[in-house]
This record gives sequence, C-alpha cells and structure tokens, in this order.
Amino acid sequence: MAKLTFPQDFIWGAATASYQIEGAAETDGKGPSIWDTFSHQPGHIEGGDTGDIACDHYHRYEEDIRLMKELNLNTYRFSISWPRIFPDDTGRPNEKGIAFYKALVEGLREAGITPAVTLYHWDLPQWLQDRGGWANRDTVGEFEKYARYVFGQLGDTVPIWITHNEPMVAAFVGHWWGDHAPGVKDPATALRAAHHLLLSHGQAVRAFREMGQKGRIGITLNMTPVYPAADNEADRLAAEGFNAFTNKWFADPVFRGQYPAALWEELSTAYDMPDLAPGDMDIISTPVDFLGINYYYPTYMAADPASPQGGKPVDSGKEKTEMGWEVYAQGLFDLLVNLDKNYHVPIMITENGAAYQDTVNAAGEVADDRRLHYLKEHLIAAHRAIGEGVDLRGYFAWSLMDNFEWAHGYSKRFGLIYVDYATQRRIIKKSGRWYSRVAAKNSLDE
Ligand code: FCB
Repeated sequence: MAKLTFPQDFIWGAATASYQIEGAAETDGKGPSIWDTFSHQPGHIEGGDTGDIACDHYHRYEEDIRLMKELNLNTYRFSISWPRIFPDDTGRPNEKGIAFYKALVEGLREAGITPAVTLYHWDLPQWLQDRGGWANRDTVGEFEKYARYVFGQLGDTVPIWITHNEPMVAAFVGHWWGDHAPGVKDPATALRAAHHLLLSHGQAVRAFREMGQKGRIGITLNMTPVYPAADNEADRLAAEGFNAFTNKWFADPVFRGQYPAALWEELSTAYDMPDLAPGDMDIISTPVDFLGINYYYPTYMAADPASPQGGKPVDSGKEKTEMGWEVYAQGLFDLLVNLDKNYHVPIMITENGAAYQDTVNAAGEVADDRRLHYLKEHLIAAHRAIGEGVDLRGYFAWSLMDNFEWAHGYSKRFGLIYVDYATQRRIIKKSGRWYSRVAAKNSLDE
C-alpha cells in the first residue's frame, strides 16, 4: 500500500451553490431568481421539487460550519445569491442579504476554514431576466456592479474568488437545450448568452484588479475529456468538434482571447453569431490567477453525418453513477495534463463527485462505499497528475451535503453529508468520514 502525500497547503474543500442549499427563498428581502421562476413552472423539475426550502442552510449555517469542521475541510466553496443582494431594479443593495454572507464568512474564519466564493452559480435575478437576461449585453454591466459591491463588502475576508460556475451550462443548457433556467431553446440566444457571460467574467476580473483586492480570482469551467469512440479518422474529427464546442468555446476565449475559429465558421453558417465589440476578447482574456475545473465524466464521440455537429456521443457501456455518468478517473488525469499543456495555469478542481442512492441503515449510518471509491480513485488520478508537473492547488468534493440537483430535484444525492429533507437532520456519510481523514493527513493510502 503506497502512501500518496499531497503538496503543502493543498486545498481540501467541499462545494455548494446558493440555490441548491439555502432555501429561504423569500426571506429577509431576497428577490426571485430565474431558478425560483423555473422550478415553480410545472414539468421542469423531477417530482415538482423547488429550492424553496432545500437544506435550509440559510438558517442552519452554523450547524453546517460545525460539520465542515468535523470533515476537516480547510476551505469551503459556496456561491452568493445575486437576488439576495440586488432583489430588484432600484440598484439598492439589500443589507440583510449581504449580512448573511458576512456572518457565514465570519463563522468560517472562526472555524479556521477559508472561504472560496463563487459570484454566479446560475441564479440570475428575475428582474434582469425580464430585461433579456444574459442574452442582453446590459447584464454584463449589471454583473460588474454586483461584483464590485460584493468585493467591497467581503473583499478583505475572502481570499479565493470565482466569477462564474460553468458558463457552458448556464448558456447552453439554459438557452439551447432549455433544460435549465431560463428554459430558452434557441442556439443564437445561447451563443449570445455565452459571450456575455464570458465578457462579464473579464469585467469582474478587471474590477477586482482595479479595486486592488488582495485575493486570487479565476473562473470555473465544466470540462469533459472527449475521446473518439473508435480509432478512426472520422471519429477523431467528431471528438475534436465536440471538444471545441463544449470545452474550448469557453477556455480559449479566457486563455487565448479567441473563440475556436473553425467552429465559429461552422456555426455561423447556421446561426446568427454574437456581436463582438472591439476590445471584447481582450477583456475576456484578462489574466486570471487560476482555472477551476469541474470534472464528472468522459465523453466518447462517433461520426454521424446526420447530426448538425457531425458527431454523436456514444455510451461506453462502462460503470455509471446514478446520474448515468461514467466513472472514469483516468479522464481527470488526461484533462489535467492537457489543460496544463494547453493553457499553463494553476488549476483547482472546484467540483468532482458522484450521485448514488444512499440509504440510512439500522445503525443510523450511511455506508456509501461506491462514493468513497469514486472519490479515492479521482484523488489518486489527481495526485498522479501533480507528479507529472501539473500545478494543481486543490480539490473540492461536490458536494458538502445532499441538495437540490437542478432539473433532478432532490432525487440525486451527491453529498459527503446525508440530508433527511423531512427533518433537516444531517448525517456524515462513510465517504465523508474517509475524506476527513485524508484531509487531516494531507495524504491517502492507495
Ligand atoms: C455541476 C454543477 C453543480 C452540481 C453538479 C452535479 O454541473 O455545477 O451545481 O449540480 O454539476
């Protein structure tokens, strides 16, 4: 049994997002977000679930901080609900909204846990959606105002900032396939939303630097390594095409100041492309301090002349989680090594984890061996990537606790902590106990 030790100061974290855990949907002056609206419309969420109550974290954050401490986390990644801070179009910040996050940050610091804040994890204020949301370029300026306000209020106490979580999902799942809020199904709108999300990222980074903030700032992108389904030229091209669409469409603008040219060309034959104003790409590529990546599963592409993208994803037939996502730790290794080669930037794994159907046994415990195995294999892969020279700074398990899994509602459990939604009782799972030992030792036994 080999002992794998991680670099000194390695981040051992867990992540959450505001709409998925907070509840308190109308408390203390919070305004509605697009997820409040979307989840309340029939047919969007499994079981008709909403985030109205979720894990009630808004009222239980002190208990949750105690649990984080039991997990030996040194860092906690959470997101701020924009409509808690700017509930309406008056431009006046809601004091009680920011007070909640100040108290949370204070509590974390007292517990010796570093806060890592995501500014946008998909809950756009509804009043902005009413003006066109991310498809409207004015939302970029509104995001900058919001970012500046939050930096000003929390800047001294938060050393790690993430502008956006998974702009690909916000743009494409929200505006192309329409499975997420705001539920639009229009490719041109999706491409415009993507551009404005990226632009708002760049403007927030510039604001952060201008304000002389001391912390580090980056962006979190969802990444899937894309492999050809079979070893032939046609499948290789299909894989390249999908890689440009899902990964590079977001990473290349941030790190190279350009969209993938061939794909832009191809998309423009079918759709109205976003207007690029002079200077946009320079703003988007304002240097960041790190790249956050969320990794869950790999993708295999086969050529398919009938599909507009020239390819289609195929099922490998291998082991899957409850989400139907393949378990493939080597995919994380491949991703890390490639990102390091292509973009040369410090990396944090800002999400990684697995959904399984957990149950509480007669002893009151949750013996989630499959999740423990998933986390372990992925940490071993991450360690191997560090050995290859990748500048990996940390790892955040998704998620701290079971929560509202978007269109799947409460049917999918990702937590290190089990949540009994009827009573709001929390139980640290076996995987959570294991993770706490790894975090405490900064090493794991292979
Ligand atoms: C990611 C999201 C996160 C969570 C996981 C399972 O795409 O960022 O909120 O839902 O997937």
